Amino acid sequence: TRSLIIDCDPGVDDAVGLLLAFAAPGLELLAITTVGGNVPVEATARNARIMRQIAGREDVPVYAGAERPLVREPAGAGEFHGLEGTGDLTVFEPGAPMAQGHAVDAMIAIVMSRPAGEVALSVMGPMTNVALAMRKEPRLAAHLGCVVAMGGARSEGGNITASAEFNIWADPDAAAEVFASGCEMIVMGLDATHQVRATEDRIAAIEAIGTPAAEATASMLRFSHRIEREIVRGEDPPLHDPCTVAWLLKPELFTTRPCRIEVETASDLTRGHTAVEFRIDPATARHHWATKADGQGVFDLITAKLKAAAPQ
Ligand code: BDR
Ligand code: CA
Repeated sequence: TRSLIIDCDPGVDDAVGLLLAFAAPGLELLAITTVGGNVPVEATARNARIMRQIAGREDVPVYAGAERPLVREPAGAGEFHGLEGTGDLTVFEPGAPMAQGHAVDAMIAIVMSRPAGEVALSVMGPMTNVALAMRKEPRLAAHLGCVVAMGGARSEGGNITASAEFNIWADPDAAAEVFASGCEMIVMGLDATHQVRATEDRIAAIEAIGTPAAEATASMLRFSHRIEREIVRGEDPPLHDPCTVAWLLKPELFTTRPCRIEVETASDLTRGHTAVEFRIDPATARHHWATKADGQGVFDLITAKLKAAAPQ
């Protein structure tokens, strides 16, 4: 088993990532921390609690974190996630309460209470909580196991501007600090996540499982399918955030290359651009950029985990 904290801003694809993690016995899920991003932080915290209730995993604590980016104005992405952040899925007030305390303090306390290198962190939203935690506890970056982050764009170009992907663009200052912190990072940018598409067949296979978690997953993927095909580019929607959990469960689904990543913070035009430098000594690399993803393999993994978690 792998010990894990998920930092996220659900968000439909974050929510699918959570439902995958809840269904994976190979992961010891220590906490979910949420951040303002796709929708405001109160909504991301509630949505994480809704997913945990749907999955019957109220044992996992949910902590709310940063309301706004380090420096910039908050920007949402409700058009891709629905105003509540869960697509067409009806939101409700979850039964189990929030965990007390701030996400940043919880992240520090949990990681530092375990041996160095033990706790992995999956980052599915803007990196504000992670940057704040690293500022508050300077030993955190070295104490963390790997950080598997969804963010950035290289050959695919951006999805919020020509140069930038949403998570990095939303809080470029936080991302710049985290990439410069020295922690080991596996980075799922758009180059990889655009290879993982929620086709109608793949959604139908998940829906056929018939459990509440599988039906919620299918509903959110269908919402993305509609938005992406009708409003965006007429393609099947990419599945971004669950790639971080999929990598932790089955890294062979991805190809990564050692590199050094830096984030543009000075320019307005290229704000949040990820400069991915491969011309480094691989032995010293702290960052690994995903270049290839097995889209069918990721969906087979999600389907298998949701199926195996179903009551027999
Ligand atoms: C990222 O932006 C968010 O809208 C998604 O949840 C994902 O984390 C993709 O650019
Ligand atoms: Ca997200």
